Amino acid sequence: MKRIGMLTSGGDCQALNATMRGVAKGLFSNLDNVEIYGFLEGYKGLMRGNYRKMTEKDFSGILTRGGTILGTSRQPFKQMRVVEDGFDKVKAMKDTYQRLGLDCLVVLGGNGSLKSANMLSEEGLNVIGLPKTIDNDIWGTEVTFGFQSAVEIATTAIDNIHTTAESHGRVFILELMGHKVGWVTLHAGIAGGADVLLIPEIPYDIKVICKALREREKAGKSFSIIAVAEGAISKETAALSKKARKEKIANSKYPSAAYEIAAQITEKTGQEVRVTVPGHTQRGGSPCPYDRVLSSRLGAMGAKLVINEDYGKLVVMRNDDVTAIPLAETAGKLKYVDPEDDIIESARMLGISFGDK
Ligand code: F6P
Repeated sequence: MKRIGMLTSGGDCQALNATMRGVAKGLFSNLDNVEIYGFLEGYKGLMRGNYRKMTEKDFSGILTRGGTILGTSRQPFKQMRVVEDGFDKVKAMKDTYQRLGLDCLVVLGGNGSLKSANMLSEEGLNVIGLPKTIDNDIWGTEVTFGFQSAVEIATTAIDNIHTTAESHGRVFILELMGHKVGWVTLHAGIAGGADVLLIPEIPYDIKVICKALREREKAGKSFSIIAVAEGAISKETAALSKKARKEKIANSKYPSAAYEIAAQITEKTGQEVRVTVPGHTQRGGSPCPYDRVLSSRLGAMGAKLVINEDYGKLVVMRNDDVTAIPLAETAGKLKYVDPEDDIIESARMLGISFGDK
């Protein structure tokens, strides 16, 4: 008999249900006696003892369903050990785990959530993590579930902008999600044929961006498309200390990076610029086929780890193989785009500007 707790934590994404289904199917198919307790709204449910006992039926028909049937919430890692109004969150989570007599807790989450998963593992709970996020920034795995689905949506957004940009002869900026990294922008930008890609890992110089736009104009191109990661920063901002950088961004008069860049382009070139922000649509809808396969594979490995009692692990993809690494190895590290990677070199070869040189 195995009693498993499961929760989805942090920002949602398209393949959370598909991954939970993978874990559940793997468990129900290979164990005679298994109970799954789904905690509602992420760690909050574990803290408050708010859960649903799930049956096999709960995991049927959810392969294609976006969002999460358990609900989710953001519980910042930094606040986890802070006792608020006498409420000790870590103790409360451990109490729920013990009260239900769980053998293991399966956490589907991104960086912050996996840090908390590692903390619970260090506190003595049996924990298994699964790498969720559209940002693709979890260290230790080549890919996270949700990423490809977000890339598809972001690419469609660029495709749709293409026709209107062409008709009007304007400069269009699309601001894409990704938090502190540029994976979604890099992949969707290449897939959508954007002319300029701005990602946090390669700080930009506005003069270089304007030069690239003028060159396109000179070459007879009537429009340009710039894909900007929400975390993109200029070279000047990148040169500041972490604190000064945070202050500068917080005090900016623009709602986000794309609007600041748009204003600077208009000021320097006189060109008409439009900004589009697909925002949370990038996290919505059904998982794409790639993510359905990925989630099924990662989920099956999650079930295998539970069955083998191989705890304290994060399921990852390495060299296109599903495997697992210690949670402690990934906790607190971000996977950035490497500016020297050959995908960047290939993009530059095609004439894509990263606004840096
Ligand atoms: O981590 C996923 C993500 O969608 C990021 O790309 C984005 O910066 C953030 O979440 C948005 O968070 P929220 O949904 O809390 O606004």
